[in-house]
Amino acid sequence: MPRIVIVAGARPNFMKVKPVMDALEARGADVVLVHTGQHYDAAMNDVFFADLGLRPPDRHLGTGSGTHAEQTARVMTAFEPLVEELSPDAVVVVGDVTSTLACALVAAKAGVVVAHVEAGLRSRDWSMPEEVNRLVTDRLSDLLFAPSPDGVDNLRAEGYHDDQIHLAGNVMIDTLFANLDRALASDVLHRHGLTPGGYALATLHRPANVDDPAVLAGLLRAFGEVARELPVVLPVHPRTAVRLESAGVPEGLRLVPPAGYLDFIALQASARLVLTDSGGIQEETTALGVPCLTTRDSTERPITLTEGTNLLVGRDPARIVAAAREVLANPPAKRSPALWDGHAGDRVADVLLAHLASPVRPRPTDVRDTAVGSPA
Ligand code: UD1
Repeated sequence: MPRIVIVAGARPNFMKVKPVMDALEARGADVVLVHTGQHYDAAMNDVFFADLGLRPPDRHLGTGSGTHAEQTARVMTAFEPLVEELSPDAVVVVGDVTSTLACALVAAKAGVVVAHVEAGLRSRDWSMPEEVNRLVTDRLSDLLFAPSPDGVDNLRAEGYHDDQIHLAGNVMIDTLFANLDRALASDVLHRHGLTPGGYALATLHRPANVDDPAVLAGLLRAFGEVARELPVVLPVHPRTAVRLESAGVPEGLRLVPPAGYLDFIALQASARLVLTDSGGIQEETTALGVPCLTTRDSTERPITLTEGTNLLVGRDPARIVAAAREVLANPPAKRSPALWDGHAGDRVADVLLAHLASPVRPRPTDVRDTAVGSPA
């Protein structure tokens, strides 16, 4: 059976690798879980392995934090000899973090099949590091697994071949459904003195929202206004923690440490409203049917707007507060995008293993020859 390396680096990767690993191993593949070490704090890392029942990484690269270039370079330098040593048949990367791009680049240059899970998402905001990571990772990948039809449309428009593109559904929602009952048994609401349906949950960590003090102050002001209507609980990401020290936190906004996976799902599931700049939370709230306001100007997950409970509200405090009041008064109905059904990991595994077993494999180099707009 083929040897498949699967890469996880940062918090949002862990719930995406689990269903793919499980499905590949159930089909007999030899899976090697590689952790790049991009995230390393217990609260960003260990708790997810415990909550998800993810085995400890088979290999840990221990790369740590740094600038984008430092982080990318460190992951690449550590991953390259590992690929040489393991000679995998394929490398699977998930999501859009720096580790995703770094490992895809190494694998592509080593001539190994690259599969990208969560392909085709586009915010069209080139100032987001994740948008750069998404575009380049897709370009390096042999197999592109899109979570939703908009991802397929984006990839087709960029000239990818139909036999590279696979609408697999959303692997993160596989993990959500697999763990929902356990999450709902968490006592996290009790620990924070919250009642189901009686609070709003906020998250904030995008550089565009937390690195500029004026933008951060505006968002905190907006959350403070919402907190006049109901308590707002904000689990604080390490990037944000540093910024909050000098920002001043409005009354009613309750700062709590970063939550583990099960606790965070429980907090989302029982919230009356979620305010976030995260990508994954837009999807999880849609799957849970919980109203979500995204404090960004764009989203790479438009399906959550058209077929979910998400609203894009930007970063203007007055607009955020008005939208929150509107949604509290008239919550949107629950809707579920197709193939967010708990079986995306199975579809990824079936396609990847069939691809590896096939003598004829399309290579990503084919894309360039036929890309839309390329010279004849
Ligand atoms: C990264 C991802 C982002 C994802 C987020 C989820 C990129 C470009 N960004 O952003 O897409 O939504 O993870 O959390 O890959 N830090 C710690 N402990 C840790 C990890 C980080 O204290 O375990 C601090 C460090 O000061 C670090 C900073 O957080 O410099 C930022 O970490 P980094 O991994 O560079 O980016 P995130 O903001 O976490």
